[in-house]
Amino acid sequence: MLPWKSIIEINPESKRTIYLQISDFIIKEINIGHLSAGQKLPSSRTLADILKINRKTAIMAFDELLAQGWIDVIPNKGAFVKNNIPTFRPQDLGRKMNIPKIIKKDPISSLVTVNDGIPDYRLSLIDKLYKQAGSLSKNAIGKNLFGGGSPAGEESLRYVLCNYLHDSRAISTTPSNIMVTRGSQMALYLAFSILLKNGGKVAVGELNYQTANDTITTLGGKLVKIQLNDQGLDIDHLEATLQKEKIAAIYITPHHQYPTTITMPVTHRLRLLNLASKYDFTIIEDDYDYDYHYSRSPILPIASIDQESRVVYIGSFSKLFAPAVRLGYMVASQTFINNCIPHRLHIDRRGDPLLEKSLSMLIEDNELPRLLKKNISIYKRRRDLLASLLEKELGNQVRFKLPEGGMAIWVKFLNIDIDTLKDKLHQNGVIMNTDVYTAFNSHSRLGFASLNEKEIGIVIELLTKVIHQIVQ
Ligand SMILES: Cc1ncc(COP(=O)(O)O)c(C=O)c1O
Repeated sequence: MLPWKSIIEINPESKRTIYLQISDFIIKEINIGHLSAGQKLPSSRTLADILKINRKTAIMAFDELLAQGWIDVIPNKGAFVKNNIPTFRPQDLGRKMNIPKIIKKDPISSLVTVNDGIPDYRLSLIDKLYKQAGSLSKNAIGKNLFGGGSPAGEESLRYVLCNYLHDSRAISTTPSNIMVTRGSQMALYLAFSILLKNGGKVAVGELNYQTANDTITTLGGKLVKIQLNDQGLDIDHLEATLQKEKIAAIYITPHHQYPTTITMPVTHRLRLLNLASKYDFTIIEDDYDYDYHYSRSPILPIASIDQESRVVYIGSFSKLFAPAVRLGYMVASQTFINNCIPHRLHIDRRGDPLLEKSLSMLIEDNELPRLLKKNISIYKRRRDLLASLLEKELGNQVRFKLPEGGMAIWVKFLNIDIDTLKDKLHQNGVIMNTDVYTAFNSHSRLGFASLNEKEIGIVIELLTKVIHQIVQ
């Protein structure tokens, strides 16, 4: 008999259950030829005695081997290595993958990261959202959600969103006009899949959210660039373009134009709607950070005044929770939503019903307005602090306009190459993780929302030090 006690070394600390550890060892012995076809294995009682384990555990190990096809069990005779066992010799890769236990921190990247405008998830409701999901998963309502789900999104969330959109931004809609998506990016992808089915052109700002541009071109669309001015999209230039070129759609972020942060005035919004009607195109209104407006209430979306279903309205919860919380939505005509469904089924069958239901419960409990009220005043303070420090410490080196809302300041760096700036900042412990718009005179977005006041102080201190080194 093989020396089972020394062959099977049970590790009580292992996350793998004991019976699976035993079957693993036996499989290994078969594979390396120590156990040959037809060879008898010890009985479950003997194995249990040798290994000092419960007999049930030994039986489970044999059941596992039987289920996997490694052994035959002959009644009253015992267990035998299968005669025609599949011969499987794992390739010796010569080395084992080293899975690091902890992701090592780059020592010089540990101070602070400047992004182009994401929320401070230390202040968000993530814990509440997942706690809700956790408790929901334990009860019957939650359990029901595991098997089901609709490609248009969890029904109760679509109902709750109707009230939420009505109360927060005067959009009147119905659950059949809503698709819940995994973040607004999925909504953008689906909307352009429909609009660009036969190719076509999409008007975008000359500076624009790069991911949207990439989505459009990947789906076969052609970008038509529209100039920007100090009021955002230049509507005169758009109109002149429309007289020459047919477009399928325009993609806009009117609340805070990405990347410049400029808010589109109401008069421009009305003109845009009229142009959409006259030249027959769709408006994709990406309202990614609607909630954050500091000088007054947010300006109502174009979707709220759209009488002709010209607007596909796209929203995201990633600015309320965190970028990794993949919850967004699209509001459009019922036909448009129905057309999106087959496309969604190709990439994602049914979203995350448990998380969507949990979100609907948070909205029903009025948690979002409470959170927003608190965060708006915190983010406003952070915006003002970053602006005043930029002015005070770097007034000669940068130009910017205080944004009315959003999560970032659009900064023009004078006489400074931003890539050099990024490198030097990194050496000093600040990662500047933002896009650079070199074609637009060295501009970049400096996100303030995710940094607390101390962190903003560190960023400005190091930014000042590094810029002075560069311009010396
Ligand atoms: C202009 C714009 N649209 C949409 C999004 C959000 O995308 P998602 O909801 O997929 O996270 C972002 C995120 O940064 C953005 O900047």
